[in-house]
Amino acid sequence: MTAEPKPILVFDSGIGGLTVLRELRVLIPERHFIYVADDAGFPYGGWGEAELNARVVDLFGVLLQAHDPEVCVIACNTAFTVAGAALRAAYPQMRFVGTVPAIKPAAERTRSGLVSVLATPGTVRRAYTRELIQSFASQCDVCLVGSHRLARMAEAYIRGETIADDDIRAEIGGCFVEEGGRRTDIVVLACTHYPFLANVFRRLAPWPVDWIDPAEAIARRARSLVTLPATFTPISGPDPAIFTSGHPDFTTRRLMQGFGLTA
Ligand code: DGL
Repeated sequence: MTAEPKPILVFDSGIGGLTVLRELRVLIPERHFIYVADDAGFPYGGWGEAELNARVVDLFGVLLQAHDPEVCVIACNTAFTVAGAALRAAYPQMRFVGTVPAIKPAAERTRSGLVSVLATPGTVRRAYTRELIQSFASQCDVCLVGSHRLARMAEAYIRGETIADDDIRAEIGGCFVEEGGRRTDIVVLACTHYPFLANVFRRLAPWPVDWIDPAEAIARRARSLVTLPATFTPISGPDPAIFTSGHPDFTTRRLMQGFGLTA
């Protein structure tokens, strides 16, 4: 009998990583997943860099010990842009797939040269984000828009609550820039929570733009790191979801079920 393959661990501060998990499931049906939400620390957007770095590195000490995954996907821009390097240094035996603002593809795709990055305030402040802009988008005008409220709104929306259009408009408005006859044509969704609101963003946008969601690219990268046998054996049955608070509410547990997860 061959041993069951190790699972892939997917990590976020909350439910945002589910936007990445759904792509992972499509591209790697041969693997089980463990979804970890650090809901006790949510939202990550307002945390100081040193504190968040320490929290994430410590948490992974426990998670790797308990679950022994094959690969870890950090499905959170706010966590990875601050703690990615420290995670790799602390756990060199583990392969980490990160999530960073999709500035490179945005710069390659823009026609107007005006690109906006919609993210948490933490991701907007990061040196990592500035370096991505310098390395890949120096020929573009990049507008960084940090939202304190959108991650919470996305959590509420996906749980079935109604969010007022005006509240969302106020958060995304800064992404739409008109300058010298040009206007923004690409908005990077640089927080994994935001794709849950993508249809609302499209409806409320003052003009059409491309909204870049990096989930598929992250899943492709993860697939390239997984050792798969020559014969295709899809895996079935629910995967576990772990909440650091220890007690997800009823709506959250029902939401997890919809994603094939048991909390
Ligand atoms: N989903 C997370 C990200 O990609 C952040 C949400 C939060 O905790 O503020 O950045």
